[in-house]
Amino acid sequence: MISSRRLLLALLFCSTAVALAASSSGRWLLVPAKDHARINPLAATPQAIDAGAMLYHTHCSQCHGPTALGDGRKHPSLRTDRIHQATDGDIEWFLRQGDLAHGMPSWSSLPTSQRWQIIAYLRSLP
Ligand code: HEC
Repeated sequence: MISSRRLLLALLFCSTAVALAASSSGRWLLVPAKDHARINPLAATPQAIDAGAMLYHTHCSQCHGPTALGDGRKHPSLRTDRIHQATDGDIEWFLRQGDLAHGMPSWSSLPTSQRWQIIAYLRSLP
């Protein structure tokens, strides 16, 4: 018979696995339709991309890594299918909201134009 201690351990293991799978699961893609449809007003000009690269390195790289590939653990890559498939508006909305419960700060205090510059930079990455 399985001891209750073992059962508890097994349950703990399962719930941790579920929690890990749920992290960064793209729940933030439930973006309001109005935001989802927004288009980056700065488009992908070289100036916007350069400014976005500087902002990225100031604000984001310590978590998401110097080339936005994440750290393979807690901090996700920003060069995934999910990010490629998200609209500019989705990402801008998420940057404003953040997900503090999961370690992603809100960037609502940045000027709107700077969030769009960061998005232009992310879009320039393969
Ligand atoms: C203090 C660490 C930290 C900083 C700084 C940070 N992030 Fe994050 N970010 C995270 C974590 C942790 C997650 C995963 C959150 C989750 O599980 O929902 C995340 C998730 C994201 C996601 C969603 C990824 C996905 O696939 O779901 C995007 C987009 C993102 N961050 C962009 C940025 C940008 C752009 C900046 C800079 C303006 C930034 N982050 C700064 C920690 C950070």
